Amino acid sequence: MKQLKENVYWVGITDWGLQHFHGFGFSTHRGATYNSYVIKDEKIAVVDAVWGPYANEWIEKLSQVVDLEKIDYVICNHAETDHAGSYVALMDKIPNATFVVSAKGKEHVHKQFHQDWNFKVVKTGDKISLGKRELVFIEATMLHWPDNMMAYLTEDNILFSNDAFGQHYASSKIFNDEVDETEVYQEAIKYYANILTPFGKLITKKIDEIKSFNLPLDMIAPSHGIIWRDNPMQIVEKYYEWASNYAEPTVVLIYDTMWSNTEKMALAIAKGLDASGVAYKIYHAAKADGADVATEIFKAKGILVGSSTFNNRYLPTTATILEEIRCLRFTGKIGASFGSYGWSGESPKLVEDHLAASKIDIVQDSLGIKFTPTVEELQTCYDFGKSFGEKVLASLNK
Ligand code: FEO
Repeated sequence: MKQLKENVYWVGITDWGLQHFHGFGFSTHRGATYNSYVIKDEKIAVVDAVWGPYANEWIEKLSQVVDLEKIDYVICNHAETDHAGSYVALMDKIPNATFVVSAKGKEHVHKQFHQDWNFKVVKTGDKISLGKRELVFIEATMLHWPDNMMAYLTEDNILFSNDAFGQHYASSKIFNDEVDETEVYQEAIKYYANILTPFGKLITKKIDEIKSFNLPLDMIAPSHGIIWRDNPMQIVEKYYEWASNYAEPTVVLIYDTMWSNTEKMALAIAKGLDASGVAYKIYHAAKADGADVATEIFKAKGILVGSSTFNNRYLPTTATILEEIRCLRFTGKIGASFGSYGWSGESPKLVEDHLAASKIDIVQDSLGIKFTPTVEELQTCYDFGKSFGEKVLASLNK
């Protein structure tokens, strides 16, 4: 148990060993936390819960702060199981508590856990009085699910933002001014890139809406990672930046290769990128961590994808990252494709088509080379990389 303010407590779980989240889709190199909070006033509220496997540990922590029987409100800002998975265990003990959710949250909770609790459905602007303080609710659709909402605690000026502004980051400390800020931002941008990228337009609208309320803000307390206490608006401004066609002057080059020929092309293209002056990172599609690659793509202006032709298509490992690019709906990126082949040679054009269908602006024709590239063909690859790098830099200097 840790304290945010007088009578406001963190009762979350620190999952030091978590290596993957969302099944195996999201690597969590720095572990994770599931943040849960208790507010003690004339009424007692619990805000957010934890992943199901930690239900007993969480309830034990809760009971060290409050008599469970005295909990009046259970605030469910989000029904995804990393938060909602332990509600059944708690509500079995306090069936008369009021379970506060958005309209979509009620539907999601009901369909997941098949319970008929004492639901109270709230929408933006609705309030619950706890005594000296109020909880004010703000719907936050698609940050991260349709049901998401935030809860703002008056007097203490804490925004319980749930997934928004979170990071998968395990720490013995709970505030941003107590930890390594570089690590926190690495995890915050990875979280944004892999979970929130598709919803950029909704995010900017939501931030504008929250700003328009002019709420005094002492803390932003998300449901994952550290709590923003030192200059909490810094992460709000970052989200605004990230949601607005964010792009650094860099290129991500991803490839897979069967007999090293596509790799030779990739390395020659990289020399061309170097000559253009642009910074780049290279990833082997079969070996790289998909969530880390997605983060780097999110940051970069340019994407180059290469694959050998395999059974008239691209390699399955390349297909995985191409699907990721499509699902995450990146905006404002430019791209191109390349690859070696033996006879039919479909891959580079198919990769190009996939990138184009993913709304990546294709700025030069795909490059295919038959079998082992000659010295002249490696020069062509070099020119391909140089030209692409120049286009990246030119597009950012417009
Ligand atoms: Fe942390 Fe969308 O759940």
